[in-house]
Amino acid sequence: MSAPVDPTRTEAWRTLSGLAESLRPDLRAWFADDPGRAERLTFEAAELRADLSKNLITDEVLAALLALAGEVGLTDRIAAMFAGEHINVTEDRAVLHTALRAPAGERLEVDGHEVVEGVHAELAKVYAFAERVRSGAWTGVTGKPISTVINIGIGGSDLGPVMAYEALKPYVQEGLEARFISNIDPTDLATKTAGLDPETTLFIVSSKTFGTLETLTNARLARAWLLDGLRSAGAITDDDDQAKTAVAKHFVAVSTALDKVAAFGIDPANAFGFWDWVGGRYSVDSAIGTSLAVAIGPERFAEFLAGFRAVDDHFRTAEPARNLPVLLGLLNVWYGNFLGAATHAVLPYSQYLHRFPAYLQQLTMESNGKGVRYDGSPVTTETGEVFWGEPGTNGQHAFYQLIHQGTRLIPTDFIAFANPAHPLRDGDTDVHELFLANFFAQTAALAFGKTADEVRDEGTPEPIVPARVFSGNRPSTSIMAPALTPAVLGQLIALYEHLTFVQGAIWGIDSFDQWGVELGKQLALQLAPAVSGDEAALAQQDSSTRSLITYYRTHRTP
Ligand code: F6P
Repeated sequence: MSAPVDPTRTEAWRTLSGLAESLRPDLRAWFADDPGRAERLTFEAAELRADLSKNLITDEVLAALLALAGEVGLTDRIAAMFAGEHINVTEDRAVLHTALRAPAGERLEVDGHEVVEGVHAELAKVYAFAERVRSGAWTGVTGKPISTVINIGIGGSDLGPVMAYEALKPYVQEGLEARFISNIDPTDLATKTAGLDPETTLFIVSSKTFGTLETLTNARLARAWLLDGLRSAGAITDDDDQAKTAVAKHFVAVSTALDKVAAFGIDPANAFGFWDWVGGRYSVDSAIGTSLAVAIGPERFAEFLAGFRAVDDHFRTAEPARNLPVLLGLLNVWYGNFLGAATHAVLPYSQYLHRFPAYLQQLTMESNGKGVRYDGSPVTTETGEVFWGEPGTNGQHAFYQLIHQGTRLIPTDFIAFANPAHPLRDGDTDVHELFLANFFAQTAALAFGKTADEVRDEGTPEPIVPARVFSGNRPSTSIMAPALTPAVLGQLIALYEHLTFVQGAIWGIDSFDQWGVELGKQLALQLAPAVSGDEAALAQQDSSTRSLITYYRTHRTP
Protein backbone atom coordinates (compact mmCIF):
# COMPACT_ATOMS: atom_id res chain seq x y z
CA MET A 1 0.00 0.00 0.00
CA SER A 2 1.38 3.40 -0.91
CA ALA A 3 2.10 5.96 1.82
CA PRO A 4 -0.76 8.32 2.61
CA VAL A 5 -0.78 11.61 0.77
CA ASP A 6 -0.40 14.51 3.18
CA PRO A 7 -3.63 16.44 2.50
CA THR A 8 -2.16 19.67 3.83
CA ARG A 9 0.48 19.69 1.11
CA THR A 10 -1.95 19.47 -1.77
CA GLU A 11 -2.86 22.25 -4.12
CA ALA A 12 -6.51 21.85 -3.11
CA TRP A 13 -5.66 22.39 0.56
CA ARG A 14 -4.01 25.69 -0.28
CA THR A 15 -7.05 26.70 -2.29
CA LEU A 16 -9.39 25.71 0.55
CA SER A 17 -7.32 27.65 3.11
CA GLY A 18 -7.60 30.74 0.90
CA LEU A 19 -11.33 30.23 0.44
CA ALA A 20 -11.83 29.78 4.18
CA GLU A 21 -9.95 32.98 4.88
CA SER A 22 -11.95 35.03 2.44
CA LEU A 23 -15.29 33.35 3.20
CA ARG A 24 -17.96 35.80 4.29
CA PRO A 25 -20.93 33.49 4.65
CA ASP A 26 -24.22 35.12 3.76
CA LEU A 27 -26.86 32.46 3.28
CA ARG A 28 -29.57 35.10 2.91
CA ALA A 29 -27.80 36.66 -0.04
CA TRP A 30 -26.61 33.36 -1.46
CA PHE A 31 -30.20 32.12 -1.62
CA ALA A 32 -31.59 35.43 -2.84
CA ASP A 33 -29.03 35.72 -5.64
CA ASP A 34 -29.18 32.11 -6.70
CA PRO A 35 -32.68 30.66 -7.04
CA GLY A 36 -31.18 27.34 -8.15
CA ARG A 37 -29.05 26.88 -5.01
CA ALA A 38 -31.32 24.43 -3.20
CA GLU A 39 -31.90 22.32 -6.27
CA ARG A 40 -28.24 22.31 -7.27
CA LEU A 41 -27.10 21.31 -3.81
CA THR A 42 -29.66 18.57 -3.19
CA PHE A 43 -28.44 15.02 -3.74
CA GLU A 44 -29.99 11.59 -3.61
CA ALA A 45 -28.76 8.16 -2.61
CA ALA A 46 -31.30 5.34 -2.74
CA GLU A 47 -34.34 6.73 -0.86
CA LEU A 48 -32.33 9.37 0.99
CA ARG A 49 -32.54 12.97 -0.12
CA ALA A 50 -30.02 15.37 1.36
CA ASP A 51 -30.23 19.12 0.99
CA LEU A 52 -26.76 20.62 1.46
CA SER A 53 -27.75 24.12 0.40
CA LYS A 54 -27.89 25.53 3.94
CA ASN A 55 -24.20 24.78 4.41
CA LEU A 56 -21.43 27.37 4.33
CA ILE A 57 -20.26 26.33 0.91
CA THR A 58 -19.92 27.96 -2.44
CA ASP A 59 -19.39 26.25 -5.77
CA GLU A 60 -15.67 27.08 -5.45
CA VAL A 61 -15.48 25.42 -2.04
CA LEU A 62 -17.21 22.32 -3.32
CA ALA A 63 -14.92 22.15 -6.34
CA ALA A 64 -11.83 22.51 -4.13
CA LEU A 65 -13.08 19.81 -1.73
CA LEU A 66 -13.61 17.47 -4.65
CA ALA A 67 -10.14 18.34 -5.92
CA LEU A 68 -8.77 17.45 -2.48
CA ALA A 69 -10.50 14.07 -2.68
CA GLY A 70 -8.87 13.60 -6.08
CA GLU A 71 -5.41 14.57 -4.87
CA VAL A 72 -5.43 12.14 -1.92
CA GLY A 73 -6.69 9.32 -4.14
CA LEU A 74 -10.09 8.81 -2.50
CA THR A 75 -11.50 6.79 -5.38
CA ASP A 76 -8.64 4.30 -5.13
CA ARG A 77 -9.16 3.99 -1.38
CA ILE A 78 -12.86 3.25 -1.92
CA ALA A 79 -12.00 0.62 -4.52
CA ALA A 80 -9.39 -0.90 -2.19
CA MET A 81 -11.96 -1.26 0.59
CA PHE A 82 -14.58 -2.90 -1.62
CA ALA A 83 -11.95 -5.23 -3.10
CA GLY A 84 -10.92 -6.55 0.32
CA GLU A 85 -7.40 -5.11 0.43
CA HIS A 86 -5.91 -5.04 3.92
CA ILE A 87 -6.62 -1.36 4.49
CA ASN A 88 -6.84 -2.01 8.24
CA VAL A 89 -3.07 -2.06 8.35
CA THR A 90 -2.40 -2.15 12.09
CA GLU A 91 -4.45 -5.33 12.37
CA ASP A 92 -3.48 -6.53 8.86
CA ARG A 93 -7.11 -7.09 7.89
CA ALA A 94 -9.48 -6.50 5.05
CA VAL A 95 -12.42 -4.19 5.78
CA LEU A 96 -15.47 -5.81 4.30
CA HIS A 97 -18.63 -4.85 6.12
CA THR A 98 -19.91 -4.16 2.61
CA ALA A 99 -19.73 -7.92 1.89
CA LEU A 100 -22.29 -8.49 4.67
CA ARG A 101 -24.96 -6.98 2.45
CA ALA A 102 -23.85 -8.33 -0.90
CA PRO A 103 -26.64 -10.30 -2.57
CA ALA A 104 -26.40 -14.09 -2.72
CA GLY A 105 -24.60 -15.21 -5.82
CA GLU A 106 -22.18 -12.29 -5.91
CA ARG A 107 -18.60 -13.46 -5.71
CA LEU A 108 -15.76 -11.90 -3.76
CA GLU A 109 -12.61 -13.78 -2.96
CA VAL A 110 -10.49 -12.39 -0.15
CA ASP A 111 -7.33 -13.97 1.25
CA GLY A 112 -8.17 -17.15 -0.63
CA HIS A 113 -11.75 -17.41 0.71
CA GLU A 114 -15.05 -16.82 -1.02
CA VAL A 115 -16.69 -14.43 1.43
CA VAL A 116 -20.20 -13.76 0.12
CA GLU A 117 -21.08 -17.45 0.14
CA GLY A 118 -19.98 -17.66 3.78
CA VAL A 119 -22.00 -14.56 4.65
CA HIS A 120 -25.18 -16.10 3.24
CA ALA A 121 -24.56 -19.46 4.88
CA GLU A 122 -24.33 -17.73 8.27
CA LEU A 123 -27.32 -15.51 7.50
CA ALA A 124 -29.37 -18.63 6.73
CA LYS A 125 -28.48 -19.97 10.21
CA VAL A 126 -29.47 -16.71 11.86
CA TYR A 127 -32.74 -16.59 9.92
CA ALA A 128 -33.61 -20.21 10.77
CA PHE A 129 -32.96 -19.51 14.44
CA ALA A 130 -35.00 -16.30 14.30
CA GLU A 131 -37.93 -18.15 12.72
CA ARG A 132 -37.82 -20.84 15.40
CA VAL A 133 -37.91 -18.28 18.20
CA ARG A 134 -40.63 -16.23 16.51
CA SER A 135 -42.84 -19.23 15.77
CA GLY A 136 -42.45 -20.70 19.25
CA ALA A 137 -40.69 -23.79 17.89
CA TRP A 138 -37.64 -22.88 19.99
CA THR A 139 -38.67 -23.39 23.58
CA GLY A 140 -37.00 -22.90 26.92
CA VAL A 141 -36.09 -25.81 29.17
CA THR A 142 -39.65 -26.15 30.48
CA GLY A 143 -41.17 -26.16 26.99
CA LYS A 144 -42.44 -22.57 27.03
CA PRO A 145 -41.87 -20.33 23.99
CA ILE A 146 -39.50 -17.39 24.31
CA SER A 147 -40.99 -13.95 24.88
CA THR A 148 -37.84 -11.94 25.71
CA VAL A 149 -34.44 -12.07 24.02
CA ILE A 150 -31.65 -10.28 25.81
CA ASN A 151 -28.56 -9.29 23.87
CA ILE A 152 -25.47 -9.16 26.08
CA GLY A 153 -22.69 -7.20 24.39
CA ILE A 154 -20.96 -3.83 24.48
CA GLY A 155 -19.69 -1.26 21.99
CA GLY A 156 -20.36 -2.49 18.48
CA SER A 157 -21.91 -5.64 19.89
CA ASP A 158 -24.59 -3.54 21.56
CA LEU A 159 -24.97 -0.07 20.08
CA GLY A 160 -26.02 -1.19 16.60
CA PRO A 161 -28.55 -3.82 17.69
CA VAL A 162 -30.14 -1.62 20.35
CA MET A 163 -30.27 1.43 18.08
CA ALA A 164 -31.84 -0.56 15.23
CA TYR A 165 -34.28 -2.36 17.53
CA GLU A 166 -35.45 0.98 18.91
CA ALA A 167 -35.64 2.48 15.43
CA LEU A 168 -37.69 -0.40 14.05
CA LYS A 169 -40.02 -0.95 17.02
CA PRO A 170 -43.13 -0.79 14.80
CA TYR A 171 -41.83 -3.91 13.00
CA VAL A 172 -41.26 -5.99 16.15
CA GLN A 173 -43.43 -9.10 16.42
CA GLU A 174 -46.18 -8.75 18.98
CA GLY A 175 -45.46 -10.71 22.14
CA LEU A 176 -41.70 -10.58 21.57
CA GLU A 177 -39.42 -8.12 23.26
CA ALA A 178 -35.68 -7.51 23.08
CA ARG A 179 -33.58 -6.03 25.85
CA PHE A 180 -29.91 -5.12 25.86
CA ILE A 181 -27.36 -5.48 28.64
CA SER A 182 -24.02 -3.81 28.06
CA ASN A 183 -22.63 -2.08 31.13
CA ILE A 184 -20.58 -3.95 33.70
CA ASP A 185 -22.34 -1.75 36.26
CA PRO A 186 -24.44 -4.54 37.83
CA THR A 187 -27.41 -2.17 37.72
CA ASP A 188 -27.73 -2.87 34.00
CA LEU A 189 -28.26 -6.60 34.39
CA ALA A 190 -30.34 -6.20 37.55
CA THR A 191 -32.77 -3.76 35.96
CA LYS A 192 -32.98 -5.50 32.57
CA THR A 193 -33.78 -8.89 34.08
CA ALA A 194 -36.20 -7.46 36.67
CA GLY A 195 -39.67 -8.89 36.31
CA LEU A 196 -38.66 -11.44 33.67
CA ASP A 197 -39.50 -15.13 33.77
CA PRO A 198 -36.31 -17.17 33.19
CA GLU A 199 -38.43 -19.88 31.54
CA THR A 200 -39.31 -17.54 28.65
CA THR A 201 -36.03 -15.59 28.43
CA LEU A 202 -33.24 -16.27 25.96
CA PHE A 203 -29.81 -14.65 26.09
CA ILE A 204 -27.71 -13.86 23.03
CA VAL A 205 -24.11 -13.31 24.10
CA SER A 206 -22.60 -11.11 21.40
CA SER A 207 -18.89 -10.47 21.35
CA LYS A 208 -16.60 -10.37 18.36
CA THR A 209 -13.60 -11.44 20.45
CA PHE A 210 -15.50 -13.28 23.20
CA GLY A 211 -12.88 -11.86 25.50
CA THR A 212 -14.53 -8.62 26.59
CA LEU A 213 -14.60 -8.28 30.37
CA GLU A 214 -18.00 -6.60 30.55
CA THR A 215 -19.73 -9.08 28.27
CA LEU A 216 -18.29 -12.22 29.82
CA THR A 217 -19.02 -10.96 33.34
CA ASN A 218 -22.60 -10.14 32.38
CA ALA A 219 -22.97 -13.50 30.62
CA ARG A 220 -21.89 -15.30 33.79
CA LEU A 221 -24.28 -13.17 35.89
CA ALA A 222 -27.07 -13.95 33.44
CA ARG A 223 -26.32 -17.65 33.61
CA ALA A 224 -26.49 -17.50 37.42
CA TRP A 225 -29.76 -15.50 37.21
CA LEU A 226 -31.22 -18.09 34.86
CA LEU A 227 -30.20 -21.15 36.86
CA ASP A 228 -31.18 -19.62 40.22
CA GLY A 229 -34.55 -18.63 38.82
CA LEU A 230 -35.22 -22.02 37.27
CA ARG A 231 -34.15 -23.81 40.42
CA SER A 232 -36.23 -21.71 42.74
CA ALA A 233 -39.26 -22.24 40.47
CA GLY A 234 -38.61 -25.98 40.71
CA ALA A 235 -38.09 -26.15 36.94
CA ILE A 236 -34.66 -27.79 37.29
CA THR A 237 -32.72 -29.42 40.12
CA ASP A 238 -29.11 -28.90 41.22
CA ASP A 239 -28.05 -31.60 38.79
CA ASP A 240 -25.24 -30.45 36.46
CA ASP A 241 -26.76 -32.04 33.39
CA GLN A 242 -30.00 -30.17 33.95
CA ALA A 243 -28.04 -26.93 34.25
CA LYS A 244 -26.27 -27.72 30.97
CA THR A 245 -29.54 -28.41 29.20
CA ALA A 246 -31.00 -25.18 30.56
CA VAL A 247 -28.00 -23.17 29.34
CA ALA A 248 -28.26 -24.82 25.91
CA LYS A 249 -31.93 -23.82 25.69
CA HIS A 250 -31.52 -20.27 26.99
CA PHE A 251 -28.12 -19.16 25.66
CA VAL A 252 -26.85 -18.64 22.14
CA ALA A 253 -23.74 -16.74 21.11
CA VAL A 254 -22.44 -14.58 18.30
CA SER A 255 -18.70 -14.33 17.84
CA THR A 256 -15.71 -14.68 15.55
CA ALA A 257 -14.08 -16.84 18.26
CA LEU A 258 -16.28 -19.94 18.34
CA ASP A 259 -13.68 -21.90 20.37
CA LYS A 260 -14.10 -19.42 23.24
CA VAL A 261 -17.88 -19.74 22.97
CA ALA A 262 -17.57 -23.48 23.60
CA ALA A 263 -15.20 -22.87 26.51
CA PHE A 264 -17.85 -20.62 28.08
CA GLY A 265 -20.31 -23.53 27.98
CA ILE A 266 -22.48 -22.48 25.06
CA ASP A 267 -23.09 -25.27 22.54
CA PRO A 268 -21.24 -24.29 19.31
CA ALA A 269 -24.34 -25.57 17.49
CA ASN A 270 -26.08 -22.54 19.01
CA ALA A 271 -23.45 -20.06 17.91
CA PHE A 272 -23.42 -17.74 14.92
CA GLY A 273 -20.15 -16.60 13.48
CA PHE A 274 -18.74 -13.68 11.61
CA TRP A 275 -15.28 -12.67 10.47
CA ASP A 276 -12.32 -10.57 11.52
CA TRP A 277 -12.86 -8.33 8.49
CA VAL A 278 -16.01 -6.96 10.15
CA GLY A 279 -15.16 -4.18 12.60
CA GLY A 280 -17.25 -4.17 15.80
CA ARG A 281 -18.80 -0.81 15.00
CA TYR A 282 -19.61 -2.01 11.47
CA SER A 283 -21.24 -5.27 12.58
CA VAL A 284 -24.95 -4.63 13.14
CA ASP A 285 -25.62 -6.19 9.74
CA SER A 286 -23.72 -9.38 10.62
CA ALA A 287 -24.87 -12.08 13.06
CA ILE A 288 -24.36 -9.39 15.73
CA GLY A 289 -27.82 -8.28 14.58
CA THR A 290 -29.37 -11.61 15.63
CA SER A 291 -31.52 -10.01 18.34
CA LEU A 292 -32.86 -7.63 15.69
CA ALA A 293 -33.47 -10.49 13.22
CA VAL A 294 -35.47 -12.28 15.91
CA ALA A 295 -37.46 -9.17 16.75
CA ILE A 296 -38.33 -7.97 13.23
CA GLY A 297 -38.00 -11.27 11.35
CA PRO A 298 -35.81 -12.42 8.47
CA GLU A 299 -37.83 -10.69 5.77
CA ARG A 300 -37.47 -7.28 7.36
CA PHE A 301 -33.84 -7.97 8.21
CA ALA A 302 -33.21 -8.74 4.53
CA GLU A 303 -34.78 -5.37 3.64
CA PHE A 304 -32.47 -3.74 6.19
CA LEU A 305 -29.47 -5.32 4.43
CA ALA A 306 -30.79 -4.30 1.02
CA GLY A 307 -30.90 -0.72 2.29
CA PHE A 308 -27.19 -0.82 3.16
CA ARG A 309 -26.46 -2.34 -0.20
CA ALA A 310 -28.29 0.38 -2.11
CA VAL A 311 -26.04 3.02 -0.53
CA ASP A 312 -22.94 0.82 -1.02
CA ASP A 313 -23.74 0.72 -4.72
CA HIS A 314 -24.19 4.47 -4.78
CA PHE A 315 -20.93 5.05 -2.89
CA ARG A 316 -18.99 2.74 -5.17
CA THR A 317 -20.36 3.95 -8.48
CA ALA A 318 -21.63 7.54 -8.26
CA GLU A 319 -19.24 10.21 -9.51
CA PRO A 320 -17.70 12.13 -6.59
CA ALA A 321 -19.59 15.33 -7.43
CA ARG A 322 -22.93 13.54 -6.89
CA ASN A 323 -21.80 10.98 -4.33
CA LEU A 324 -23.58 11.71 -1.08
CA PRO A 325 -21.20 10.02 1.40
CA VAL A 326 -18.28 11.64 -0.43
CA LEU A 327 -19.88 15.09 -0.29
CA LEU A 328 -20.89 14.80 3.37
CA GLY A 329 -17.47 13.49 4.39
CA LEU A 330 -15.82 16.37 2.54
CA LEU A 331 -18.17 18.86 4.16
CA ASN A 332 -17.09 17.59 7.58
CA VAL A 333 -13.46 18.09 6.54
CA TRP A 334 -14.30 21.64 5.46
CA TYR A 335 -15.88 22.47 8.81
CA GLY A 336 -13.31 20.67 10.97
CA ASN A 337 -10.11 21.59 9.17
CA PHE A 338 -10.88 24.97 7.66
CA LEU A 339 -13.67 26.61 9.68
CA GLY A 340 -12.65 25.39 13.14
CA ALA A 341 -15.64 23.24 14.07
CA ALA A 342 -14.81 20.67 16.74
CA THR A 343 -18.20 19.01 17.05
CA HIS A 344 -21.03 17.86 14.81
CA ALA A 345 -24.63 17.51 15.95
CA VAL A 346 -26.96 14.84 14.59
CA LEU A 347 -30.58 15.74 15.24
CA PRO A 348 -33.12 13.11 14.20
CA TYR A 349 -36.71 14.31 14.08
CA SER A 350 -37.88 10.82 14.88
CA GLN A 351 -38.27 9.54 18.41
CA TYR A 352 -37.53 6.04 17.16
CA LEU A 353 -34.00 7.21 16.26
CA HIS A 354 -33.25 8.24 19.81
CA ARG A 355 -30.18 5.97 20.01
CA PHE A 356 -28.86 6.97 16.58
CA PRO A 357 -26.52 9.72 17.84
CA ALA A 358 -25.06 7.32 20.44
CA TYR A 359 -24.55 4.72 17.74
CA LEU A 360 -22.84 7.29 15.52
CA GLN A 361 -20.53 8.27 18.36
CA GLN A 362 -18.84 4.90 18.27
CA LEU A 363 -18.96 4.67 14.49
CA THR A 364 -17.35 8.03 13.88
CA MET A 365 -15.22 8.64 16.97
CA GLU A 366 -13.75 5.14 17.37
CA SER A 367 -13.03 5.21 13.65
CA ASN A 368 -11.52 8.64 13.25
CA GLY A 369 -10.24 9.59 16.69
CA LYS A 370 -6.64 8.99 15.59
CA GLY A 371 -3.37 10.87 15.91
CA VAL A 372 -1.27 8.80 13.53
CA ARG A 373 -1.72 7.88 9.91
CA TYR A 374 -1.84 4.38 8.52
CA ASP A 375 1.92 4.36 7.94
CA GLY A 376 2.55 5.27 11.59
CA SER A 377 3.49 8.89 10.91
CA PRO A 378 1.71 11.67 12.80
CA VAL A 379 -1.43 13.13 11.26
CA THR A 380 -0.88 16.50 9.67
CA THR A 381 -4.15 18.17 10.65
CA GLU A 382 -7.07 17.84 13.05
CA THR A 383 -9.02 14.58 12.81
CA GLY A 384 -12.21 13.10 14.27
CA GLU A 385 -14.72 15.66 15.46
CA VAL A 386 -17.07 14.98 18.39
CA PHE A 387 -20.44 13.66 17.26
CA TRP A 388 -23.40 14.21 19.52
CA GLY A 389 -27.12 14.81 19.44
CA GLU A 390 -30.61 14.07 20.63
CA PRO A 391 -33.91 13.80 18.84
CA GLY A 392 -35.82 16.94 17.97
CA THR A 393 -37.91 18.51 19.27
CA ASN A 394 -36.51 17.59 22.69
CA GLY A 395 -33.11 19.05 21.83
CA GLN A 396 -34.76 22.36 20.88
CA HIS A 397 -35.70 22.84 24.52
CA ALA A 398 -32.27 21.88 25.78
CA PHE A 399 -29.13 22.71 23.81
CA TYR A 400 -30.27 24.40 20.57
CA GLN A 401 -29.72 27.76 22.27
CA LEU A 402 -25.99 27.21 21.91
CA ILE A 403 -26.32 26.14 18.28
CA HIS A 404 -28.40 29.24 17.43
CA GLN A 405 -26.63 31.92 19.41
CA GLY A 406 -23.45 30.47 20.93
CA THR A 407 -19.96 31.43 19.85
CA ARG A 408 -18.97 28.07 18.40
CA LEU A 409 -19.61 26.78 14.93
CA ILE A 410 -21.63 23.55 15.09
CA PRO A 411 -22.51 21.90 11.81
CA THR A 412 -25.74 19.92 12.12
CA ASP A 413 -27.48 17.05 10.36
CA PHE A 414 -31.26 17.17 10.59
CA ILE A 415 -32.98 13.88 9.75
CA ALA A 416 -36.72 13.50 9.14
CA PHE A 417 -39.29 11.31 7.43
CA ALA A 418 -42.31 12.30 5.38
CA ASN A 419 -44.52 9.61 6.92
CA PRO A 420 -44.95 9.03 10.63
CA ALA A 421 -45.14 5.63 12.31
CA HIS A 422 -48.10 6.90 14.34
CA PRO A 423 -50.31 9.31 12.37
CA LEU A 424 -52.02 10.94 15.33
CA ARG A 425 -54.21 14.02 15.24
CA ASP A 426 -54.71 16.67 17.89
CA GLY A 427 -58.20 17.82 16.98
CA ASP A 428 -57.81 19.11 13.41
CA THR A 429 -54.03 19.13 13.56
CA ASP A 430 -51.92 16.38 12.08
CA VAL A 431 -49.27 16.16 14.81
CA HIS A 432 -46.58 14.88 12.44
CA GLU A 433 -47.03 18.08 10.43
CA LEU A 434 -46.52 20.14 13.55
CA PHE A 435 -43.43 18.08 14.29
CA LEU A 436 -42.03 18.58 10.79
CA ALA A 437 -42.84 22.27 10.91
CA ASN A 438 -40.32 22.42 13.75
CA PHE A 439 -37.74 20.55 11.66
CA PHE A 440 -38.14 22.96 8.72
CA ALA A 441 -38.25 26.00 10.99
CA GLN A 442 -35.04 25.11 12.81
CA THR A 443 -32.93 24.76 9.68
CA ALA A 444 -34.34 28.04 8.32
CA ALA A 445 -33.71 29.85 11.62
CA LEU A 446 -30.15 28.56 11.75
CA ALA A 447 -29.44 29.55 8.17
CA PHE A 448 -31.16 32.91 7.91
CA GLY A 449 -31.33 34.14 11.48
CA LYS A 450 -33.05 37.37 12.46
CA THR A 451 -31.54 40.82 12.03
CA ALA A 452 -31.58 43.62 14.59
CA ASP A 453 -34.03 45.53 12.41
CA GLU A 454 -36.39 42.60 12.27
CA VAL A 455 -36.20 42.32 16.04
CA ARG A 456 -36.90 46.07 16.41
CA ASP A 457 -39.82 45.85 14.02
CA GLU A 458 -41.44 43.43 16.43
CA GLY A 459 -41.45 46.22 19.04
CA THR A 460 -38.58 44.86 21.11
CA PRO A 461 -37.13 47.48 23.50
CA GLU A 462 -33.70 48.60 22.29
CA PRO A 463 -31.62 47.27 25.22
CA ILE A 464 -32.94 43.76 24.59
CA VAL A 465 -32.44 43.81 20.82
CA PRO A 466 -28.89 42.32 20.80
CA ALA A 467 -29.97 39.32 22.87
CA ARG A 468 -32.76 38.59 20.39
CA VAL A 469 -30.70 38.81 17.23
CA PHE A 470 -29.88 35.55 15.45
CA SER A 471 -26.76 35.80 13.32
CA GLY A 472 -27.83 33.05 10.92
CA ASN A 473 -25.22 31.37 8.71
CA ARG A 474 -25.23 28.36 10.99
CA PRO A 475 -24.89 25.32 8.79
CA SER A 476 -27.24 22.39 8.51
CA THR A 477 -27.78 19.45 6.20
CA SER A 478 -31.36 18.19 5.91
CA ILE A 479 -31.66 14.48 5.25
CA MET A 480 -35.13 13.20 4.41
CA ALA A 481 -36.67 9.88 3.37
CA PRO A 482 -40.23 8.69 2.81
CA ALA A 483 -40.44 6.71 6.09
CA LEU A 484 -38.25 5.05 8.68
CA THR A 485 -38.41 1.53 7.22
CA PRO A 486 -35.81 -1.22 7.69
CA ALA A 487 -34.41 -0.38 4.25
CA VAL A 488 -34.13 3.33 5.00
CA LEU A 489 -32.42 2.62 8.32
CA GLY A 490 -29.87 0.47 6.48
CA GLN A 491 -29.34 3.33 4.03
CA LEU A 492 -28.79 5.85 6.80
CA ILE A 493 -26.27 3.65 8.60
CA ALA A 494 -24.36 2.96 5.39
CA LEU A 495 -24.36 6.69 4.62
CA TYR A 496 -22.61 7.47 7.90
CA GLU A 497 -20.27 4.47 7.62
CA HIS A 498 -19.07 5.71 4.27
CA LEU A 499 -18.80 9.38 5.11
CA THR A 500 -16.68 8.35 8.09
CA PHE A 501 -14.46 6.42 5.69
CA VAL A 502 -14.18 9.44 3.40
CA GLN A 503 -12.94 11.63 6.24
CA GLY A 504 -10.42 8.99 7.31
CA ALA A 505 -9.20 8.66 3.73
CA ILE A 506 -8.62 12.41 3.45
CA TRP A 507 -6.59 12.38 6.67
CA GLY A 508 -4.68 9.23 5.69
CA ILE A 509 -5.68 7.31 8.80
CA ASP A 510 -6.73 3.72 9.44
CA SER A 511 -10.39 4.18 10.39
CA PHE A 512 -10.77 0.53 11.33
CA ASP A 513 -8.55 -0.09 14.34
CA GLN A 514 -9.22 1.14 17.88
CA TRP A 515 -6.02 0.91 19.91
CA GLY A 516 -7.09 3.90 21.96
CA VAL A 517 -9.48 1.80 24.03
CA GLU A 518 -6.89 -0.76 25.08
CA LEU A 519 -4.87 1.04 27.75
CA GLY A 520 -7.83 1.67 30.02
CA LYS A 521 -8.88 -1.99 29.73
CA GLN A 522 -5.39 -3.17 30.71
CA LEU A 523 -5.18 -0.78 33.65
CA ALA A 524 -8.61 -1.81 34.95
CA LEU A 525 -7.39 -5.39 35.18
CA GLN A 526 -4.13 -4.32 36.84
CA LEU A 527 -5.98 -2.13 39.32
CA ALA A 528 -8.62 -4.68 40.30
CA PRO A 529 -6.52 -6.27 43.11
CA ALA A 530 -5.87 -2.84 44.66
CA VAL A 531 -9.61 -2.15 44.65
CA SER A 532 -10.30 -5.48 46.37
CA GLY A 533 -7.84 -4.77 49.19
CA ASP A 534 -4.37 -5.83 48.04
CA GLU A 535 -2.22 -3.31 49.93
CA ALA A 536 0.92 -3.94 47.89
CA ALA A 537 -0.99 -3.32 44.66
CA LEU A 538 -2.49 -0.16 46.20
CA ALA A 539 0.95 1.12 47.18
CA GLN A 540 2.08 0.93 43.54
CA GLN A 541 -0.55 3.42 42.36
CA ASP A 542 -0.03 7.13 41.87
CA SER A 543 -1.18 9.35 44.72
CA SER A 544 -4.43 10.42 43.07
CA THR A 545 -5.49 6.90 42.12
CA ARG A 546 -4.43 5.63 45.56
CA SER A 547 -6.56 8.22 47.30
CA LEU A 548 -9.59 7.50 45.08
CA ILE A 549 -9.36 3.79 45.82
CA THR A 550 -8.89 4.49 49.53
CA TYR A 551 -12.00 6.68 49.50
CA TYR A 552 -13.93 3.83 47.89
CA ARG A 553 -12.66 1.28 50.40
CA THR A 554 -13.48 3.51 53.36
CA HIS A 555 -17.00 4.26 52.18
CA ARG A 556 -18.02 0.88 50.82
CA THR A 557 -20.38 -0.75 53.29
CA PRO A 558 -19.69 -4.45 53.76
O1 F6P B 1 -13.30 -1.64 23.39
C1 F6P B 1 -13.72 -1.32 22.12
C2 F6P B 1 -14.25 -2.51 21.41
O2 F6P B 1 -13.21 -3.30 20.97
C3 F6P B 1 -15.14 -2.09 20.26
O3 F6P B 1 -14.46 -1.79 19.12
C4 F6P B 1 -16.04 -3.26 20.16
O4 F6P B 1 -17.17 -2.95 19.41
C5 F6P B 1 -16.32 -3.53 21.61
O5 F6P B 1 -15.09 -3.29 22.24
C6 F6P B 1 -16.82 -4.90 21.95
O6 F6P B 1 -15.93 -5.90 21.55
P1 F6P B 1 -16.39 -7.39 21.42
O7 F6P B 1 -17.48 -7.47 20.41
O8 F6P B 1 -15.17 -8.15 21.01
O9 F6P B 1 -16.90 -7.85 22.76
